[in-house]
Amino acid sequence: MAVPGWAALAYLVSGVLFILALRGLSSPTSSRRGNRFGMIGMLIAIATTLILHGTGLVEIAIAIAIGGGIGFVVARRIAMTAMPQLVAAFHSLVGLAAVLVAAAAYLNPAAFGIVDVATGEILRVSRIEMGLGIAIGAITFSGSVIAFLKLNGNMSGKPIMLPGRHVINLGTLAAILGLVAYFLTDQSPWVFWTVTGLSFVIGFLLIIPIGGADMPVVVSMLNSYSGWAAAAMGFTLHNTAMIVTGALVGSSGAILSYIMCKAMNRSFISVIAGGFGAEAASSGGGEKVDRPWKRGSAEDAAFLMKQAEQVIIVPGYGMAVAQAQHALREMADQLKAEGVKVKYAIHPVAGRMPGHMNVLLAEANVPYDEVFELEDINSEFAQTDVAFVIGANDVTNPAAKTDKSSPIYGMPVLDVEKAKTVLFVKRSMGGVGYAGVDNDVFYMDNTMMLLADAKKMVEDIVKAMAH
Ligand code: TAP
Repeated sequence: MAVPGWAALAYLVSGVLFILALRGLSSPTSSRRGNRFGMIGMLIAIATTLILHGTGLVEIAIAIAIGGGIGFVVARRIAMTAMPQLVAAFHSLVGLAAVLVAAAAYLNPAAFGIVDVATGEILRVSRIEMGLGIAIGAITFSGSVIAFLKLNGNMSGKPIMLPGRHVINLGTLAAILGLVAYFLTDQSPWVFWTVTGLSFVIGFLLIIPIGGADMPVVVSMLNSYSGWAAAAMGFTLHNTAMIVTGALVGSSGAILSYIMCKAMNRSFISVIAGGFGAEAASSGGGEKVDRPWKRGSAEDAAFLMKQAEQVIIVPGYGMAVAQAQHALREMADQLKAEGVKVKYAIHPVAGRMPGHMNVLLAEANVPYDEVFELEDINSEFAQTDVAFVIGANDVTNPAAKTDKSSPIYGMPVLDVEKAKTVLFVKRSMGGVGYAGVDNDVFYMDNTMMLLADAKKMVEDIVKAMAH
């Protein structure tokens, strides 16, 4: 099915707009513009596809209304902290769509214009696209469902280890690849459906051994897989915009996973192979012992920070839960008015999704030039009077540097303990971070624990500063 020239041009324009969207999204200052480019690109792509399609527009409109309605309600209701599981759920739908498109093309190849007129069989090139599309789609689907269940707490976040899992995984992957190749010579239903079944199984097997702390990388990896699945669908549907978009999502997801692996000191190859981080996550750490610690009040914190030359704020998941970003900005404004230098230190996996903290701080209008990445600010803690840790925990845990048995060993962390004073906001001494381990910083001589809800504590500090 040849696509008319105008449509090819329209798809090209939307592809370019998607590239500009990604470029815009790479910096908070241009992200709104980037989003706009993406929306216009998608509008052009959808309109072009609808015009090309011509028939069944009523059914398509009904489907869009139902899907769009559900998406609208879910997006309005979802808490920012539940974003990772929502993203995982959406990826599963992309995977399922790829499986359904490939199945539809297999069952009715004539409708997709992929029949070889000489032999009456499905074109060989289409069989490759279909085989890969169904395999990647099914892996994305079942992998994302497991990621969703783990992140949503419906399934234990602990790694589930099957005996001999590496052999089982490798064997299953080899069988899938072998059958996709065999599909070229034999298009029998058993080949097609066995590839589908095995791919669902491998998606499941690849994700169950992954522990909670490593989930962010997995979600980003599944994002990448969903992109490749969409690209494969684009080939089957002869839709250039879909191929371009899928490839963009696939490669940007892979790059993000790579960056996150580096941030958490994990091996990229073992993420793709599955079961990564399992050894580390299954061992050691987390034992709580009674040790002395100091408790401070909002007044103490206000006094200490007002005296400081520089305060570095380290936000984490708890700040997001408490929605303390606006109060925090107010606190920073007051400090700046007192002549104190204020900076924010953002760990690449602080919170529960990439860019989580940046989004929240931007929402509270924190100036971008006060927000620093880990590698740009870590050396400054040693010359800083106060590190104000608010709802962050794992990303400040020095055990990552020293304790080989810790599940977060090897992850670069913010060196908050080097500051003259550490003010640590969390609700209780019992609560742990995502990785479930204790943090030595709580018990240091230069640490003062500020036990309360993050927003309430910051509001109290702001009040205390006014006196
Ligand atoms: P965490 O280590 O999860 O620590 C959160 C801290 O916030 C805890 O100390 C908790 O203690 C406190 N807290 C929770 N609710 C609070 C509230 N309402 N007020 C005040 N404090 C509150 O957070 P982090 O340092 O941001 O580290 C992120 C972790 O999540 C890492 O292990 C990372 O690998 C993982 N992860 C990251 C992502 C991405 S991509 N960012 C995705 C999934 C997982 P209390 O309970 O005592 O209050």
